[in-house]
Amino acid sequence: MKYFLDSGKIDEIRYAYENYKIDGVTTNPRHVMDSGKPFLTVINELAEEFKGLDFPISVEINPHLTQAAEMIAHAKELSQIAENFVIKVPCNEQGLIAAKKLEEQHVRTNVTLVFTASQALQVGRIGARYVSPFVGWQESAGVDCSEFMSDVLYTIDNFGFETEVIAAAIRNGHQLATYAAMGAHIATAGLAVYKESFEHPFTDKGLKIFADAWDQTEGN
Ligand code: E4P
Repeated sequence: MKYFLDSGKIDEIRYAYENYKIDGVTTNPRHVMDSGKPFLTVINELAEEFKGLDFPISVEINPHLTQAAEMIAHAKELSQIAENFVIKVPCNEQGLIAAKKLEEQHVRTNVTLVFTASQALQVGRIGARYVSPFVGWQESAGVDCSEFMSDVLYTIDNFGFETEVIAAAIRNGHQLATYAAMGAHIATAGLAVYKESFEHPFTDKGLKIFADAWDQTEGN
Protein backbone atom coordinates (compact mmCIF):
# COMPACT_ATOMS: atom_id res chain seq x y z
CA MET A 1 0.00 0.00 0.00
CA LYS A 2 1.29 3.44 -0.89
CA TYR A 3 1.44 6.08 1.82
CA PHE A 4 0.32 9.62 1.07
CA LEU A 5 0.78 12.38 3.64
CA ASP A 6 -2.36 14.37 4.39
CA SER A 7 -0.91 17.81 5.03
CA GLY A 8 -0.36 21.34 3.80
CA LYS A 9 2.76 21.93 5.88
CA ILE A 10 5.90 21.94 3.79
CA ASP A 11 8.23 21.11 6.70
CA GLU A 12 6.40 17.95 7.71
CA ILE A 13 5.91 16.93 4.09
CA ARG A 14 9.66 17.29 3.50
CA TYR A 15 10.37 15.30 6.69
CA ALA A 16 8.02 12.47 5.66
CA TYR A 17 9.41 12.41 2.13
CA GLU A 18 12.98 12.15 3.36
CA ASN A 19 12.38 9.72 6.24
CA TYR A 20 9.15 7.78 5.68
CA LYS A 21 9.31 7.13 1.93
CA ILE A 22 5.91 8.69 1.38
CA ASP A 23 4.61 8.32 -2.15
CA GLY A 24 2.54 11.49 -2.48
CA VAL A 25 0.61 14.22 -0.71
CA THR A 26 -3.05 15.04 -0.28
CA THR A 27 -4.11 18.49 0.79
CA ASN A 28 -7.50 19.97 1.45
CA PRO A 29 -8.69 23.47 2.44
CA ARG A 30 -8.41 22.61 6.13
CA HIS A 31 -4.79 21.50 5.81
CA VAL A 32 -3.96 24.67 3.89
CA MET A 33 -5.63 26.75 6.63
CA ASP A 34 -3.65 24.83 9.29
CA SER A 35 -0.39 25.73 7.55
CA GLY A 36 -1.11 29.38 8.34
CA LYS A 37 -0.15 30.39 4.80
CA PRO A 38 -2.22 31.54 1.81
CA PHE A 39 -3.46 28.83 -0.56
CA LEU A 40 -1.27 29.87 -3.48
CA THR A 41 1.84 30.07 -1.29
CA VAL A 42 1.27 26.51 -0.08
CA ILE A 43 0.73 25.00 -3.49
CA ASN A 44 3.59 26.91 -5.09
CA GLU A 45 5.92 25.66 -2.34
CA LEU A 46 4.80 22.11 -3.03
CA ALA A 47 5.19 22.56 -6.78
CA GLU A 48 8.73 23.87 -6.34
CA GLU A 49 9.80 21.26 -3.77
CA PHE A 50 8.71 18.23 -5.84
CA LYS A 51 9.25 19.57 -9.32
CA GLY A 52 9.90 16.90 -11.95
CA LEU A 53 9.35 14.03 -9.52
CA ASP A 54 6.93 11.15 -9.84
CA PHE A 55 5.16 12.34 -6.71
CA PRO A 56 1.42 13.07 -6.96
CA ILE A 57 0.17 16.07 -5.01
CA SER A 58 -3.58 16.39 -4.63
CA VAL A 59 -4.79 19.98 -4.56
CA GLU A 60 -8.43 20.79 -3.96
CA ILE A 61 -10.46 23.27 -6.01
CA ASN A 62 -12.39 26.05 -4.32
CA PRO A 63 -15.13 24.21 -2.36
CA HIS A 64 -17.59 27.04 -3.01
CA LEU A 65 -17.82 26.15 -6.70
CA THR A 66 -21.05 24.38 -7.54
CA GLN A 67 -21.10 24.09 -11.34
CA ALA A 68 -18.97 21.69 -13.40
CA ALA A 69 -17.82 24.45 -15.78
CA GLU A 70 -16.41 26.59 -12.98
CA MET A 71 -14.85 23.55 -11.29
CA ILE A 72 -13.15 22.66 -14.58
CA ALA A 73 -11.85 26.21 -15.01
CA HIS A 74 -10.30 26.26 -11.53
CA ALA A 75 -8.94 22.72 -11.90
CA LYS A 76 -7.20 23.62 -15.15
CA GLU A 77 -5.70 26.73 -13.59
CA LEU A 78 -4.27 24.63 -10.73
CA SER A 79 -3.09 21.78 -12.93
CA GLN A 80 -0.96 24.19 -14.95
CA ILE A 81 1.13 25.02 -11.87
CA ALA A 82 2.82 21.60 -11.71
CA GLU A 83 2.80 18.44 -13.79
CA ASN A 84 2.42 16.25 -10.70
CA PHE A 85 -0.69 18.04 -9.41
CA VAL A 86 -3.83 15.95 -9.15
CA ILE A 87 -7.01 17.94 -8.79
CA LYS A 88 -9.47 17.12 -6.04
CA VAL A 89 -13.11 17.58 -6.94
CA PRO A 90 -16.09 16.76 -4.73
CA CYS A 91 -18.13 13.63 -5.27
CA ASN A 92 -21.44 15.12 -6.32
CA GLU A 93 -23.13 15.28 -9.70
CA GLN A 94 -21.36 18.44 -10.87
CA GLY A 95 -18.02 17.29 -9.47
CA LEU A 96 -18.29 13.97 -11.30
CA ILE A 97 -19.17 15.73 -14.55
CA ALA A 98 -16.14 17.96 -14.04
CA ALA A 99 -13.87 14.99 -13.25
CA LYS A 100 -15.02 13.13 -16.37
CA LYS A 101 -14.22 16.09 -18.60
CA LEU A 102 -10.94 16.82 -16.87
CA GLU A 103 -9.74 13.23 -17.28
CA GLU A 104 -10.73 13.38 -20.98
CA GLN A 105 -8.46 16.41 -21.21
CA HIS A 106 -5.64 14.60 -19.38
CA VAL A 107 -6.01 16.47 -16.10
CA ARG A 108 -5.70 13.87 -13.33
CA THR A 109 -8.39 13.96 -10.67
CA ASN A 110 -8.91 12.71 -7.14
CA VAL A 111 -12.63 12.51 -6.39
CA THR A 112 -12.98 13.35 -2.73
CA LEU A 113 -15.60 13.18 0.03
CA VAL A 114 -16.78 9.72 -1.01
CA PHE A 115 -19.05 7.98 1.49
CA THR A 116 -20.82 5.23 -0.49
CA ALA A 117 -19.85 2.46 -2.90
CA SER A 118 -22.29 3.84 -5.47
CA GLN A 119 -20.36 7.11 -5.49
CA ALA A 120 -17.12 5.17 -5.94
CA LEU A 121 -18.65 3.15 -8.78
CA GLN A 122 -19.25 6.29 -10.82
CA VAL A 123 -15.76 7.58 -10.01
CA GLY A 124 -14.35 4.36 -11.49
CA ARG A 125 -16.69 4.48 -14.49
CA ILE A 126 -15.54 7.96 -15.50
CA GLY A 127 -11.88 6.98 -15.19
CA ALA A 128 -10.78 9.30 -12.40
CA ARG A 129 -7.20 8.67 -11.28
CA TYR A 130 -8.09 8.34 -7.59
CA VAL A 131 -11.16 7.84 -5.45
CA SER A 132 -11.05 8.88 -1.79
CA PRO A 133 -13.49 7.03 0.48
CA PHE A 134 -13.39 8.94 3.78
CA VAL A 135 -13.25 6.05 6.20
CA GLY A 136 -11.75 7.99 9.10
CA TRP A 137 -14.55 10.50 9.48
CA GLN A 138 -17.16 7.76 9.67
CA GLU A 139 -15.16 5.57 12.01
CA SER A 140 -14.63 8.52 14.36
CA ALA A 141 -18.43 8.71 14.47
CA GLY A 142 -18.65 5.04 15.43
CA VAL A 143 -19.29 3.53 11.98
CA ASP A 144 -17.27 0.44 10.99
CA CYS A 145 -16.21 1.08 7.39
CA SER A 146 -14.82 -2.38 6.58
CA GLU A 147 -17.83 -3.38 4.49
CA PHE A 148 -17.87 0.00 2.74
CA MET A 149 -14.19 -0.31 1.82
CA SER A 150 -14.57 -3.91 0.75
CA ASP A 151 -17.45 -2.91 -1.56
CA VAL A 152 -15.46 -0.03 -3.01
CA LEU A 153 -12.42 -2.26 -3.68
CA TYR A 154 -14.54 -5.05 -5.15
CA THR A 155 -16.35 -2.59 -7.41
CA ILE A 156 -13.16 -1.01 -8.70
CA ASP A 157 -11.36 -4.34 -9.20
CA ASN A 158 -14.33 -6.26 -10.55
CA PHE A 159 -14.80 -3.92 -13.48
CA GLY A 160 -11.09 -3.43 -14.09
CA PHE A 161 -11.22 0.31 -13.48
CA GLU A 162 -7.77 1.88 -13.28
CA THR A 163 -8.82 4.23 -10.48
CA GLU A 164 -6.71 3.81 -7.35
CA VAL A 165 -8.50 3.70 -4.01
CA ILE A 166 -7.21 6.01 -1.28
CA ALA A 167 -8.34 5.07 2.21
CA ALA A 168 -8.73 8.67 3.38
CA ALA A 169 -8.63 10.44 6.71
CA ILE A 170 -6.89 7.48 8.36
CA ARG A 171 -6.59 8.20 12.09
CA ASN A 172 -4.63 5.29 13.57
CA GLY A 173 -2.44 2.27 12.96
CA HIS A 174 -5.35 -0.13 13.27
CA GLN A 175 -7.12 1.53 10.36
CA LEU A 176 -3.88 1.54 8.35
CA ALA A 177 -3.38 -2.19 8.88
CA THR A 178 -7.05 -3.05 8.31
CA TYR A 179 -7.30 -1.25 4.98
CA ALA A 180 -3.87 -2.49 3.87
CA ALA A 181 -4.99 -6.07 4.53
CA MET A 182 -8.13 -5.43 2.48
CA GLY A 183 -6.04 -4.26 -0.45
CA ALA A 184 -6.63 -0.51 -0.48
CA HIS A 185 -4.07 0.83 -2.93
CA ILE A 186 -3.16 3.92 -0.89
CA ALA A 187 -3.68 5.36 2.58
CA THR A 188 -3.59 9.02 3.40
CA ALA A 189 -2.97 10.16 6.95
CA GLY A 190 -1.26 12.86 8.97
CA LEU A 191 2.36 12.66 10.09
CA ALA A 192 1.46 11.82 13.71
CA VAL A 193 -0.60 8.81 12.60
CA TYR A 194 2.29 7.30 10.63
CA LYS A 195 4.78 8.03 13.43
CA GLU A 196 2.56 6.35 16.02
CA SER A 197 2.02 3.34 13.75
CA PHE A 198 5.77 2.69 13.68
CA GLU A 199 5.99 2.29 17.44
CA HIS A 200 4.75 0.03 20.23
CA PRO A 201 5.18 0.13 24.04
CA PHE A 202 6.45 -3.46 24.00
CA THR A 203 9.16 -2.45 21.56
CA ASP A 204 10.26 0.16 24.11
CA LYS A 205 9.97 -2.35 26.94
CA GLY A 206 12.01 -4.92 24.99
CA LEU A 207 14.62 -2.34 24.21
CA LYS A 208 14.94 -1.53 27.90
CA ILE A 209 15.37 -5.25 28.74
CA PHE A 210 18.06 -5.59 26.10
CA ALA A 211 19.78 -2.38 27.16
CA ASP A 212 19.92 -3.61 30.79
CA ALA A 213 21.32 -6.96 29.64
CA TRP A 214 23.90 -5.15 27.55
CA ASP A 215 25.02 -3.15 30.57
CA GLN A 216 25.32 -6.26 32.73
CA THR A 217 27.36 -8.18 30.23
CA GLU A 218 31.03 -8.38 31.01
CA GLY A 219 33.24 -6.58 28.56
CA ASN A 220 30.60 -4.11 27.32
C1 E4P B 1 -8.04 13.19 1.81
O1 E4P B 1 -7.64 13.43 0.71
C2 E4P B 1 -8.48 14.22 2.74
O2 E4P B 1 -7.68 15.37 2.63
C3 E4P B 1 -8.40 13.78 4.14
O3 E4P B 1 -8.15 12.48 4.34
C4 E4P B 1 -9.34 14.44 5.07
O4 E4P B 1 -8.71 14.36 6.28
P1 E4P B 1 -8.83 15.40 7.45
O5 E4P B 1 -10.04 15.05 8.19
O6 E4P B 1 -7.58 15.15 8.19
O7 E4P B 1 -8.89 16.79 6.89
